[in-house]
Amino acid sequence: MRPLDLIQKLPKAELHVHIEGTFEPELMFEIAQRNGVNIPFKNIEEVKQAYNFHNLQSFLDIYYAGANALIHEQDFYDLTWAYFEKCKADYVVHTEIFFDPQTHTARGIAFETVLKGILRACQDAEQKLEISSQLILCFLRHLSEEDAFKTLEQALPFKQHIAGIGLDSSELGHPPSKFERVFAQARAEGFLIVAHAGEEGPASYVWEALDLLKVNRIDHGVRSEEDDELLQRLIKERMPLTVCPLSNLKLCVVDDMKQHNIKRLLEKGICVTVNSDDPAYFGGYMNDNFIAITKALNLSNDDLKALAINSFEASFLPEAQKQYWIKLIQAE
Ligand code: ADE
Ligand code: ZN
Repeated sequence: MRPLDLIQKLPKAELHVHIEGTFEPELMFEIAQRNGVNIPFKNIEEVKQAYNFHNLQSFLDIYYAGANALIHEQDFYDLTWAYFEKCKADYVVHTEIFFDPQTHTARGIAFETVLKGILRACQDAEQKLEISSQLILCFLRHLSEEDAFKTLEQALPFKQHIAGIGLDSSELGHPPSKFERVFAQARAEGFLIVAHAGEEGPASYVWEALDLLKVNRIDHGVRSEEDDELLQRLIKERMPLTVCPLSNLKLCVVDDMKQHNIKRLLEKGICVTVNSDDPAYFGGYMNDNFIAITKALNLSNDDLKALAINSFEASFLPEAQKQYWIKLIQAE
């Protein structure tokens, strides 16, 4: 079988997707209209034209503007359900979804409204689409430590529905150390921990995420390659990196997909996984990411299987479920 044909046949887990980043322009217009919210675009074509980013911040400005259309619980449901339909099409059988409550609570939307809408879609996806999922609440790192503490407090009544706590938004100038204390509390509450590090920020941010936040996974982490001692540690600890190839290309972390380091990292023995990050903004969902790297880096069937196996190994699924999917992949 050709590698490009194998992609669709492999069960996959997605470990790095921001639900607000799955907001397709068509749905954004529909929801904005029914809520009477103004978005700074005349039509869908204009939205798509605005999706030319030169760095992370140029994307985030547009991403936060789009999220303003989301007001009611049903909006968060519709957004999340639309993402699950993409998962079904790409044979993503498990997903660990990031959500950014501060983007919404800062506009006066209740934490509960956001969580309930997303959660109801997760429950429906489990029943109707047989896709399992977990939720990861991310703190916005451009905001204060105090704001993160407040958000953690708001999450505690819903603890049973939230698997992990993460860290996202503008990386440069906001190192993981800024949030050391709030992550210590999150760990004490029993949450698993992830953090964006080494996307635009330096390898030192990855060290901080490991040593100060005590993460279970690193989100992105591609700049770890600049530090050999760090690479040795990631290999030794089998610390997963949730890599997002189309995101890296769109945000100019790499100039050309042929220069992407995911294959080199895989060959070095790092537990790299493939993910879509903000697929509505970056040109594709899970399989589009697999196709892009397979073409640019000439990935083999064994590479693709290793990446799919890594996605389950690095997931927060119970061990028995991990093994179920890994065996299926090995038999493919
Ligand atoms: N929020 C949404 N996508 C992000 C990314 N790629 N990096 C940091 N924060 C984000
Ligand atoms: Zn991300």
